[in-house]
Amino acid sequence: MPPESDKNTTLCVTAQIGNDPAFGAVIPPLYLSSTYTFAALDEMGTYDYGRSGNPNRDALADTIAKLEGGAGGVVTSSGMAAIDLVLNLLGPDELVLAPHDCYGGTHRLLNSRQSQGRLRVLFIDQGDARAVKQAMAQNPALLFIETPSNPLMRVVDIEGLCQAAHKMGALVMCDNTFLSPARQTPLALGADFVVHSTTKFLNGHSDVVGGVAVAKQDDHAEQLRWWANCTGVTGAPFDSYLTLRGLRTLPARMDIQESNAQNIARFLNQHPCVSKVYYPGLSSDPGYALAKKQQTGPGAVLGFTLKADREGVRAFLANTSLFQLAESLGGTESLICHPASMTHRAMDQEAQRKAGITQTLLRLSVGMERSQDQLAALATMFAAL
Ligand SMILES: Cc1ncc(COP(=O)(O)O)c(C=O)c1O
Repeated sequence: MPPESDKNTTLCVTAQIGNDPAFGAVIPPLYLSSTYTFAALDEMGTYDYGRSGNPNRDALADTIAKLEGGAGGVVTSSGMAAIDLVLNLLGPDELVLAPHDCYGGTHRLLNSRQSQGRLRVLFIDQGDARAVKQAMAQNPALLFIETPSNPLMRVVDIEGLCQAAHKMGALVMCDNTFLSPARQTPLALGADFVVHSTTKFLNGHSDVVGGVAVAKQDDHAEQLRWWANCTGVTGAPFDSYLTLRGLRTLPARMDIQESNAQNIARFLNQHPCVSKVYYPGLSSDPGYALAKKQQTGPGAVLGFTLKADREGVRAFLANTSLFQLAESLGGTESLICHPASMTHRAMDQEAQRKAGITQTLLRLSVGMERSQDQLAALATMFAAL
């Protein structure tokens, strides 16, 4: 049992337990009300209106902020809304440095905001020291990091990149969706903001779309809250309730899913029909040493390329008995996806080529099924090749 995950277990399990002032409910009650009474003129209580504040949303934001080691956070309606929320802190025309291989939706958002003239964006290989140095000379306002990256699991040096960005006066936002605070805490490594698609590991049950943005400093957290209320991107109470329920088991889920992923990575790594496995838990992976330094485990998502043509990939995916062919990741159930035509189809062919997303690349989100059953299901898929 990896001991690192244990330190979050009590925090996750006890968050808001036994805090109900009305009836002593052990589990925090669900507050669906969109509006709250004032005691009298000028006498507002803790809450006035559901867009600006809600007990379930605040409970979730506080818990995730504690797990990430931040001053405060805002729960949003999706992961994209969380990223866009942080972008509100930029002035007009300021420069964002982003990884060339980030999640396709993030790529689309940054490009679209640039087309509107809201900001400028430069996509670079953040593992290339020379490219980073050249980009830093262009005076960025924000460095956006996603590590490990989606879907190639490339690991970049959070601490080193934060130091370089801060030297130029830039802020740093890190997307921690792929690992969760059970495996990586970017604020401790120097980042100013952490964002998540809580749709993934934090909720962990593939039944909520949500996000969160956490700030290291109080003043940044306050700005995020202001913009979230102003633009109305805050998450719904029931979604927050479900996500806090899912979050209670995050460390235990991550332990099992990661252990299963390690077994699958080893299986794929020696399979004759696989040309490459992308997983920082393999000692042959270029991100292995860095992952050991800044992560407390390699996580439960991996990529691999098949030795096959497009028809071979189709045949392989036609036999997905246990691995559902679906986008997303981080749930208790195993999923398989074809990034080029699914999660990353918002990127044009040239952007996909630069990022290394090919037609034979597949991504696995490894779930909690019995490891032997997962391996047997994969063996059946390979038999179709
Ligand atoms: C790394 C990463 N960040 C952000 C997002 C966007 O999250 P959401 O779908 O909740 O908007 C995703 C979605 O897959 C993702 O993989």
